[in-house]
Amino acid sequence: MVRPSGKHTSARFLLICVSLLGIALIVDLFWASSSSSSSSSSRFSISSNWVPDPIDNSKAPPFINTDHNTLPTKEKAVHHQNATVEGRVLSATFADLPAPELKWEKMVSAPVPRLDGAAIQIKNLLYVFAGYGTIDYVHSHVDIYNFTDNTWGGRFDMPKEMAHSHLGMVTDGRYIYVVTGQYGPQCRGPTAHTFVLDTETKQWHDMPPLPVPRYAPATQLWRGRLHVMGGSKENRHTPALEHWSLAVKDGKTLEKEWRTEIPIPRGGPHRACIVVDGRLYVIGGQEGDFMAKPGSPIFKCSRRNEVVYSDVYMLDDEMKWKVLPSMPKPDSHIEFAWVVVNNSMVIVGGTTDKHPVTKKMVLNGEVFQFDLDKLKWSVIGKLPYRVKTTLVGFWDGWLYFTSGQRDKGPDDPAPRKVIGEMWRTRLKLNK
Ligand SMILES: *[C@@H]1O[C@H](CO)[C@@H](O)[C@H](O)[C@H]1NC(C)=O
Ligand SMILES: *[C@@H]1O[C@H](CO)[C@@H](O)[C@H](O)[C@H]1NC(C)=O
Ligand SMILES: *[C@@H]1O[C@H](CO)[C@@H](O)[C@H](O)[C@H]1NC(C)=O
Repeated sequence: MVRPSGKHTSARFLLICVSLLGIALIVDLFWASSSSSSSSSSRFSISSNWVPDPIDNSKAPPFINTDHNTLPTKEKAVHHQNATVEGRVLSATFADLPAPELKWEKMVSAPVPRLDGAAIQIKNLLYVFAGYGTIDYVHSHVDIYNFTDNTWGGRFDMPKEMAHSHLGMVTDGRYIYVVTGQYGPQCRGPTAHTFVLDTETKQWHDMPPLPVPRYAPATQLWRGRLHVMGGSKENRHTPALEHWSLAVKDGKTLEKEWRTEIPIPRGGPHRACIVVDGRLYVIGGQEGDFMAKPGSPIFKCSRRNEVVYSDVYMLDDEMKWKVLPSMPKPDSHIEFAWVVVNNSMVIVGGTTDKHPVTKKMVLNGEVFQFDLDKLKWSVIGKLPYRVKTTLVGFWDGWLYFTSGQRDKGPDDPAPRKVIGEMWRTRLKLNK
């Protein structure tokens, strides 16, 4: 054996030091990119299921939350873990609001899991459209849930040209109007195509295309016109303020072109848009969204900055936007997550602002009520888990939700699994 000379030893020592430093740097970079893309992973956490993360956050030790039922401020934040705000630590679950427990009953799951799909209830039937199955696979069919016998059935195809996610959709009780949305998987571009479905005959017809394509615009029927507003522009990220309408009746369009209407006060996708008693409401949503990675042949999704809103706007006879009381917290991905019962809107789950330190996406696990008599918000219950882009219905006293993307677990509100589960609870509104 040759004993290494002293010179060699110190050279080797230096080499080891440099490599260690290099590794540390790389790990650091990975961490940085994973915490910004981790939620990227998250939205399509898909990510964690479909595309392995450089660092799998799901295996990180769970955040301990001793403060589950209070609304923590920075002062009250739980002291644990690495994420610190000015020396304090903010629990991963800090955004959860106190909410009454509800008894949830698990029903038969949908035939397929779906994320960013759409849903329309007509009487006892919930028509569930499109959506991502995985980040690389989108559905092009409709499934129907029957609230009377609690079964799924009646699958039928969508037109080939119809968008697969981020659709605008609304019904008059028989015809379903379908506007724009994203065509294809990952973060592909939107289409301007619009359609109308006759639910009695299952026939689809074309309508005049939107002036320009949009992602997840707010869409409603109001005073005989189909209104489409906001959403994101063609790049998926830039908020759009434009607002158009088209006269429609019984599945027919009465005009050849969309009319320009008063712009929405704040653009962006994933808002709930609801008409009650001749007033049009636009609720929550966000500015910004994932975009396709420049040059990616598969339009691979990459995360961009998003700001989530709790704003509520209303249009009435005056055709001027009015500001109403904000939601209890910012809430997005709720375009099909609502029902109206006894002059109250009920909104199920969603996403709220990202965690300020870890930057991970944070899901909501509450059921919200907006009483339109009192113009007052309340939190009326807790979901079985936090979940976004739920598809919601109400029948015979039961509040139902299905589909979307749920959290990683009770202590980790970041998105993970795309689900097809169907749940229901007896709806109890606050008086
Ligand atoms: C901080 O993170 C490191 C690396 O993930 C981990 O080993 C350590 O236990 C964490 N500290 C706390 C207080 O969780
Ligand atoms: C829904 O279920 C009820 C009860 O089984 C049945 O009478 C009805 O025909 C079903 N509706 C559809 C459209 O399948
Ligand atoms: C709605 O109002 C009706 C009539 O007052 C009442 O019977 C019903 O229980 C209410 N529904 C809910 C969910 O509160």
